[in-house]
Amino acid sequence: MDISAFCSQSRVLIVAGKGGVGKTTMVAALAHLAARSGLSVLVVELEGRPGVAAAFGGDGPLDYAETVLKAAGAEAADEDGRDGPATIPAGAVRARTITPDDALLEYLADHGLKRVSKRLLSSGIVDLVAGAIPGIRDILVLGKVKQLERSRVADLILVDAPATGHTMTFLSSAGGLLDAARGGPIRSQAAEVVDLLSDPARCQVALVTLPEEMPVSEVIEAAYLLEDRVGIALGPVIVNSCYPPSAGLDTTADEAVRAADVTLDDGLVTALEEARQFRVTREELQAGQIERLARELPLPQLRVPFLFTDAIGPDQLDLLSDALGEGVAQLHDPSGVAP
Ligand SMILES: Nc1ncnc2c1ncn2[C@@H]1O[C@H](COP(=O)(O)OP(=O)(O)O)[C@@H](O)[C@H]1O
Ligand SMILES: [Mg+2]
Repeated sequence: MDISAFCSQSRVLIVAGKGGVGKTTMVAALAHLAARSGLSVLVVELEGRPGVAAAFGGDGPLDYAETVLKAAGAEAADEDGRDGPATIPAGAVRARTITPDDALLEYLADHGLKRVSKRLLSSGIVDLVAGAIPGIRDILVLGKVKQLERSRVADLILVDAPATGHTMTFLSSAGGLLDAARGGPIRSQAAEVVDLLSDPARCQVALVTLPEEMPVSEVIEAAYLLEDRVGIALGPVIVNSCYPPSAGLDTTADEAVRAADVTLDDGLVTALEEARQFRVTREELQAGQIERLARELPLPQLRVPFLFTDAIGPDQLDLLSDALGEGVAQLHDPSGVAP
C-alpha cells in the first residue's frame, strides 16, 4: 500500500498500548514516515514528556503551543504562505500537548468567558468538576483533538495515548457521558467526540505491542474491548522491538571455534554459547507470539526491529520509519474492500 495513502486513511491516529512498549517511539516514527511521504503532521502528547521531541533531535518537554519537530523543505515552506500560518506545511512535523486544564481554559475563552477562566482554573475548578463528572477531563482533551481535526491543522494528527488501562477509560468516557448527560454543552461536546471516534475516516487506533506473551495477550484483549466498547476502527498492530533474525545460530560456540581453528578462553566460549542460546530462545518465543497474535487478532501487523542502542535519536528514527514503511508497502490497499 502507498505510504501517503496509508497515513491519510484517517485524519486522527491514536497510538495506544501498554506502558513501555514503544508508543511514543512509534508516534515519532509514524510522524517521520508520514512527513517523508509529503503529509503535514501534528503530534499530540498528553503527558508533555520529551520522548517525541528527543527522537527528532530536540530537547525539553512539549508545550500547549506547537513546537516544530521537523521543518518543511523550501518548496513546502512556500505552500505554507498560501495555506495561512495556522496550517502545518506539507512534509513538516509539529508537536504540542493537550492537558485538560489548558483545554478548559481555551474552551471557556472561546465561549466568551476568558475574563473568568484563569480565576476559575486557579480555584481548582477542573478538579472539582472532574470529581463531580467522571470523564470530563477526557472529553476536554478529546474535544480539543476533535476541534483540531475539524479545523484541518494537519493531514495527520497522531495522538500519543496514555497506557492501555487508561486508554480504555480515555476513549470510552465520551460514550458514558453521552448516556448520562441529558443536554447542554457537555452532552454536545461528548456527542461530537463520539462522532469522531466512531468514524473510521476521521479516527483510528494503532495498537503497539512487543512480541512477548503478556503484551500480546494484553493487546488482543484491548483490541476487542476497543471495538466493542468504543466502536473505534483499528489500524494495523505495530509489533515493536522484534529481534532481527541473525545468521549462524544453528552452530554452537564450540563448533564455531573448532571450525575457525582458533583457541579461545573456556569462559569466553561458554559466554558465547549462552548468548547464542539466549538468542535462539528469544527468536523462538518471538516467532510463536507473532504467530499467536496473527491467529487471535485478525489485523495486519507492522513489525519494527529492536535497535541495539541507548537512545532513539534522528538516525534511529530513520531506521524505525523505514521498517514501518516496508511493512506498509506490503499491506493490501483496503479501499473498495469491505472491512
Ligand atoms: N524499536 C526499538 N528499539 C530499541 N529501543 C526502543 C525501541 N522502541 C522503543 N525503544 C525504547 O524503549 C523505551 C520505551 O519506549 P517508549 O516509546 O517511551 O514507550 P511508551 O511510550 O510505550 O511508554 C524507550 O527507552 C525507547 O527509547
Ligand atoms: Mg510514552
